[in-house]
Amino acid sequence: MAQYRPMLIIIGLICVLFTFTTNATEQNNSQIYIIHCEFPDGDRPIRYQDLESWYLSFLPATTLDSGREAPRLIYSYRNVLTGFAAKLSPEDLKEMEKMEGFVSARPEVLLDLHTTHSVNFLGLNQNMGFWKNSNYGKGVIIGVIDTGIFPDHPSFSDDGMPPPPAKWKGKCEFDVTKCNNKLIGVRYFKSSQIDPWDELGHGTHTASTAAGRLVPGANIFGNANGTAAGVAPLAHLAIYKACSSFGCTLSNFLAAMDMAIEDGVDVLSISAGRLELNLYEDYIAIGAYSAMEKGIFVSCSAGNSGPTSFTVSNGAPWILTVGASTIDRKIKATAVLGNNQEFDGQSAFQPSEFPPTQLPLVYPGSNASDILAEYCYPSSLNNTNVTGKIVLCQFGITDRIVKGRAVKAAGGAAMILMNSRSLDNTTLADAHVLPVTHVSYVDGLKIQEYINSTTTPTATIVFKGTIIGDDHAPVVAGFSSRGPSYASRGILKPDIIGPGVNILAAWHTSLENKTNTNSTFNMISGTSMSCPHLSGVAALLKSVHPDWSPAAIKSAIMTTADVLNLGSNLIEDETDLPADVFATGAGHVNPSKANDPGLIYDIEPSNYLPYLCGLNYTNRQVMMFLQRKVNCSEITSILESQLNYPSFSIQIRSNSEALVYSRTVTNVGQANSTYRVEIDSPQGLDVKVEPATLVFSEVKQKLSYQVTFTPLATRPSTIYNQGSLRWISEKHIVRSPIVVRFSFF
Ligand SMILES: *[C@@H]1O[C@H](CO)[C@@H](O)[C@H](O)[C@H]1NC(C)=O
Ligand SMILES: *[C@@H]1O[C@H](CO)[C@@H](O)[C@H](O)[C@H]1NC(C)=O
Ligand SMILES: *[C@@H]1O[C@H](CO)[C@@H](O)[C@H](O)[C@H]1NC(C)=O
Ligand SMILES: *[C@@H]1O[C@H](CO)[C@@H](O)[C@H](O)[C@H]1NC(C)=O
Ligand SMILES: *[C@@H]1O[C@H](CO)[C@@H](O)[C@H](O)[C@H]1NC(C)=O
Ligand SMILES: *[C@@H]1O[C@H](CO)[C@@H](O)[C@H](O)[C@H]1NC(C)=O
Ligand SMILES: *[C@@H]1O[C@H](CO)[C@@H](O)[C@H](O)[C@H]1NC(C)=O
Ligand SMILES: *[C@@H]1O[C@H](CO)[C@@H](O)[C@H](O)[C@H]1NC(C)=O
Ligand SMILES: *[C@@H]1O[C@H](CO)[C@@H](O)[C@H](O)[C@H]1NC(C)=O
Ligand SMILES: *[C@@H]1O[C@H](CO)[C@@H](O)[C@H](O)[C@H]1NC(C)=O
Ligand SMILES: *[C@@H]1O[C@H](CO)[C@@H](O)[C@H](O)[C@H]1NC(C)=O
Ligand SMILES: *[C@@H]1O[C@H](CO)[C@@H](O)[C@H](O)[C@H]1NC(C)=O
Repeated sequence: MAQYRPMLIIIGLICVLFTFTTNATEQNNSQIYIIHCEFPDGDRPIRYQDLESWYLSFLPATTLDSGREAPRLIYSYRNVLTGFAAKLSPEDLKEMEKMEGFVSARPEVLLDLHTTHSVNFLGLNQNMGFWKNSNYGKGVIIGVIDTGIFPDHPSFSDDGMPPPPAKWKGKCEFDVTKCNNKLIGVRYFKSSQIDPWDELGHGTHTASTAAGRLVPGANIFGNANGTAAGVAPLAHLAIYKACSSFGCTLSNFLAAMDMAIEDGVDVLSISAGRLELNLYEDYIAIGAYSAMEKGIFVSCSAGNSGPTSFTVSNGAPWILTVGASTIDRKIKATAVLGNNQEFDGQSAFQPSEFPPTQLPLVYPGSNASDILAEYCYPSSLNNTNVTGKIVLCQFGITDRIVKGRAVKAAGGAAMILMNSRSLDNTTLADAHVLPVTHVSYVDGLKIQEYINSTTTPTATIVFKGTIIGDDHAPVVAGFSSRGPSYASRGILKPDIIGPGVNILAAWHTSLENKTNTNSTFNMISGTSMSCPHLSGVAALLKSVHPDWSPAAIKSAIMTTADVLNLGSNLIEDETDLPADVFATGAGHVNPSKANDPGLIYDIEPSNYLPYLCGLNYTNRQVMMFLQRKVNCSEITSILESQLNYPSFSIQIRSNSEALVYSRTVTNVGQANSTYRVEIDSPQGLDVKVEPATLVFSEVKQKLSYQVTFTPLATRPSTIYNQGSLRWISEKHIVRSPIVVRFSFF
């Protein structure tokens, strides 16, 4: 999980720094802006050349005095939004703001870059069941916007793959031998990149998770050995490199979404984002809107800022927002202390030659002279003698593998990495450079206590390898971002959780310094990893049900999700207690059940207009999504909770008011089928559904029902309370989670 960092803060600093330095060099203070504009008559020109020349007309005439940089058009967007990216000085911008058709300018920002066994864990098994019936995603194109690709990996072989569908318009910006029937398109963005190669591994990992081929003998340092496979191994991949080691610039990201829509992808997989307070400021949401209008399914990571509330990003209702959870596999490494206490942790690197003898144990944090030392920050260990010792380090401040490097460089023999309080029991099996075990927060405290209790603390690490069968799985990862969604509280987010902890998938460079660097796998964690699992599931569903809309696919995934873990208990979070709906959304994805949901909650693109107006956005703000003139006064807007969403997020403002919302379900099961409702009411609320039985006689038939939420006289003890509503037939259970906020406390 190279991307679990307090990135928003870091990004904030970069921006401040950037503005500061550009202002300091008064001569050259141009920067990139994304400009939104509108056509005077509301209609876009049809021809791209006309669009571009219209965009160019916004750029002020070049003044070549005083060394000012000439304004420069960088991208002309055709699909994601009506507008362009340009390099402008503040003076240029001021002039542009006066022009007719100018709507807004947003300075460039950075977005945060948020498998062997995980596929079997999802119940997908070779030559049987849903995987076989869905033809492994054959014919579907998944677009991955990420850090590029390492094309020589066997996960991207095209043995036995059919050519891309005729509608495909994409391009290979590699030398052509690198593209094939698996990697049907590869693009990069020339304003800041020189090639599509993946220097980080992130994009190679996410692409192979979504649609990698079957590769036997995949493992990391011998652990997690098995056949690697993406979720949709016969789907095609289209790669858009919008990110590098610096992050993803918004202008490149929008250009990537723009091209992907133009090229004809079916699913867009986005493992990056930025927390925004309003949907109209969230440019991924704006771009995804255009994608959705064209029938493209957009799956995004929820973010790695959990477990704090209100941290979920990519929360627009036309996006599938994916949180991260564990699978039932651990790569176990046990810390054994001098007093015989044992603590199980994890590490992907498990050297067999590490001796089981006790070594001196030291905690650099017990020396108050350097705060960074407790985190084993590089070069902070100078004042602690770690030579030949096991070093206890705290999670945070810097990357986990970097801490291990610092310990190794200072002469340490091994590292025990203690979790932060907030990540609690979420431990990660990383590709460390020395013997390591990552233990839970509580276990770390016990190790600290032991160190305090003796003058000669000792420890060792016993490596136990790959262990499958954790019946607590799936457990929501501590880092997985949590709802409620700040931008739209009437929509429950995240939508779903999927595998995102210790995921093995293709990597761009050898970790082991072996000769066959083209077939390396790495184990990393993050919602960046859970998102492509869901992109793959969407591709499988699209392959079987080509007529399903993005909203229908999302509904199928959500209403069939699992709420129990392998041990048949409620899904837990990082504290080992039942997780709430702001952590799990509808639950854990169950692909085979999603293939046969019985009923779906569909949403037409036009249904989002009353929703957007209901958010009380201005006409111009709503227009940014629709790219045409909008007058909210002329349409009947709806409350957010009234959107035909497969979950309910409602707010009770007074204890005398009853709320009524309706939903419409479409029968996609047997023609003749009868559903009765079962309600699990949230505390403090009476929930009534009318009618209580839905009788269908045709496939695709639509029926509506009304839910009345009435607050009870006795008010609940908590602000948020949850429950569910289930439509049950002989063959199906169609479940919607309900969360209610009592705001009259
Ligand atoms: C400003 O930057 C541009 C390119 O970034 C460069 O060509 C130009 O020489 C710079 N001007 C000054 C005065 O530094
Ligand atoms: C991985 O599994 C394969 C097939 O079972 C086996 O041939 C291979 O030796 C294993 N590799 C490692 C490193 O355990
Ligand atoms: C620790 O040592 C490194 C390398 O020898 C040096 O670069 C660094 O400045 C030292 N740090 C402190 C705090 O003394
Ligand atoms: C703590 O740091 C000081 C120097 O800042 C050093 O003299 C001392 O030996 C250190 N203590 C331990 C236990 O490493
Ligand atoms: C560091 O500790 C080791 C083992 O306790 C000891 O042999 C060595 O002399 C110490 N080094 C320093 C510089 O104190
Ligand atoms: C260990 O001792 C230090 C300093 O005496 C203290 O600050 C810390 O809280 C102790 N830790 C535990 C877990 O007891
Ligand atoms: C591989 O490891 C050896 C020994 O550790 C080292 O000398 C060599 O430079 C490494 N090669 C690469 C490509 O990293
Ligand atoms: C590995 O990748 C390199 C660089 O792209 C390529 O030249 C080579 O043929 C590949 N080797 C194998 C064994 O696939
Ligand atoms: C998990 O977290 C809870 C709460 O902090 C703690 O009581 C429990 O011991 C932890 N479990 C493990 C296995 O660390
Ligand atoms: C929009 O305004 C209406 C009327 O003032 C209000 O009832 C509603 O709660 C507002 N919606 C949001 C999302 O703030
Ligand atoms: C929007 O519609 C209302 C009601 O029809 C009208 O009064 C108003 O002028 C319209 N606004 C615009 C910008 O057209
Ligand atoms: C559904 O039921 C009706 C009435 O019972 C019957 O006429 C019809 O043939 C049934 N349709 C199917 C597809 O079974």
